Amino acid sequence: MKILGISAGTRNGSNDAMCKEALMGAQEAGAEIEFINLSDLHIEHCTGCVACVNALFSKGKKMCVLKDDFGWLQEKMLDADGIVFAVPIFEKGTPGIFHTIMDRFGPSADCGNLTVATQIAAQTGGTPPDPRWLKDKVVSYMSIGGSDWMTRTQCDCGIQAMTPLWKVIDNEVFSWSLGILEDDEKPARAHQIGVNLANAAKDIANAQYQGEPGLCPHCHSREFYFYPDNTVECCLCGIRGKMVVDGDGYRFEFAPEQLQHAHDTMPGKFIHADDINRNNGHANEFRKTDTFKQKQKKYVEFIQGSKPPRA
Ligand SMILES: Cc1cc2nc3c(=O)[nH]c(=O)nc-3n(C[C@H](O)[C@H](O)[C@H](O)COP(=O)(O)O)c2cc1C
Repeated sequence: MKILGISAGTRNGSNDAMCKEALMGAQEAGAEIEFINLSDLHIEHCTGCVACVNALFSKGKKMCVLKDDFGWLQEKMLDADGIVFAVPIFEKGTPGIFHTIMDRFGPSADCGNLTVATQIAAQTGGTPPDPRWLKDKVVSYMSIGGSDWMTRTQCDCGIQAMTPLWKVIDNEVFSWSLGILEDDEKPARAHQIGVNLANAAKDIANAQYQGEPGLCPHCHSREFYFYPDNTVECCLCGIRGKMVVDGDGYRFEFAPEQLQHAHDTMPGKFIHADDINRNNGHANEFRKTDTFKQKQKKYVEFIQGSKPPRA
């Protein structure tokens, strides 16, 4: 059983240390381990060209046009049974490099799309996508901050797991942690996170979330979007309901049918994919019309983007 540790912090900094502490725990629990610091990799931003998802449906292959180290990283992730991420908190959330990795997973790593592409390949005799994308995997996140500005980071982390539907085991935040090595409790917690992850990887089907319960009973998120009509939506799984005052705390209440379209479930992913297909079909038809061409021309001709001089 393989556990991969990925640190998005500076080399030999707090994130590397906690990632390695978790790997020590995983190794004790019987895992084969590997460590990657993302600073050692060259990873470019997703441009949004959607070539990857087009290739997934036409060729059964998730192909990215960018030539960098992401393919190598992806292979490492696909070969692992579990992954532990140590992520520095930037502006209360995860840093750009973490978002870039999420973006590079893209719609072609969405297990709803992968399932449909696999079915199409079976019906047409085409090449199915790499089955490792649909293999169960467990993942844990540790966000490490230099202060207590941290309210978006757990949600960012959970959203990464949502695309490939990896099972989240722990999603921990260590605030005020620039001096994390002075502390004994936080490294001990990181160690336990590694043990939990390796144990979860031994029986992924029955593995359970081990972190603090959060407020959303479905995905454990604490981050909510309040609509003007007094309904609230869980920013992670998308369930919509009401926030109810319960004693000294809050309770998030929702109708059971909301679970049918939670964003981190296969039925929810299929509903979302149908909505997108319908909308994209309409938008593609509109782009063929003269009305669209005239409207677009107005913006294209209005002003050109400034660019830095190149030697
Ligand atoms: C651009 C930037 C933004 C940051 N924003 C936050 C923040 O919002 N909250 C916080 O707790 N720490 C913040 N920090 C502190 C980092 O989380 C901290 O430097 C990092 O966890 C150190 O990890 P390392 O030793 O592994 O590099 C920020 C640091 C930088 C460079």
